Amino acid sequence: MHMVIKSIAKYSMDDQNPLPSQCADCSSHPECASLDRRQVLGSVAMGGLLSAFPFIAAQAQDATQNPALLVDADAEADYKPLRPADLPMGKPLLVFPFDSKAGLPKNESRLNKLVVVRLPEDQMTPETLARSASGVVAYSGICTHQGCEVKTWIAKEKVLACYCHASKFALLDSAKVVSGPAPKPLAAVALAMNGEFLAVVPSPPPTAGQ
Ligand code: FES
Repeated sequence: MHMVIKSIAKYSMDDQNPLPSQCADCSSHPECASLDRRQVLGSVAMGGLLSAFPFIAAQAQDATQNPALLVDADAEADYKPLRPADLPMGKPLLVFPFDSKAGLPKNESRLNKLVVVRLPEDQMTPETLARSASGVVAYSGICTHQGCEVKTWIAKEKVLACYCHASKFALLDSAKVVSGPAPKPLAAVALAMNGEFLAVVPSPPPTAGQ
């Protein structure tokens, strides 16, 4: 299922925007301004994929009938489910899971944003490769530090960076924290191909005791 991609693109627009070395106040960045901190910190404190992404638990029941495809989070009406080829190599995109029956994103809370990136499969760890689809990996788009959106790919370091306080995540290796104040990796989301489109593989519903 996986297509081996042998090279990584050198160009990344985000490389041209250096991270602030320090940021004492997240509200100084536009992407932080709309942050509901209590909501974010509550989700982070609960931990775990299901608590951070309530749509996934709900989706588990109807996954086979109505798989969650992915659409650009900035799309406002003309929703187009994403194919791997829609993602330039090494160029992150924030997306929402999409209800193809309803023709709408499943939940447009910013906490449900995912970041997807197409990366070389031959550079992924086995665990990351197993969660990817056609070279595309997906993680929560919300930083585990204070909830900023993460979408800055630094090609030469092969990390995704958070613009607020410069945490860096190794997307080729389960989004492990490479540096910065983030306390844990970005929550990983498994993808699969649904026909020609990328789709979320739902997590199983929690069992008693979890
Ligand atoms: S919100 Fe602080 S590093 Fe991401």
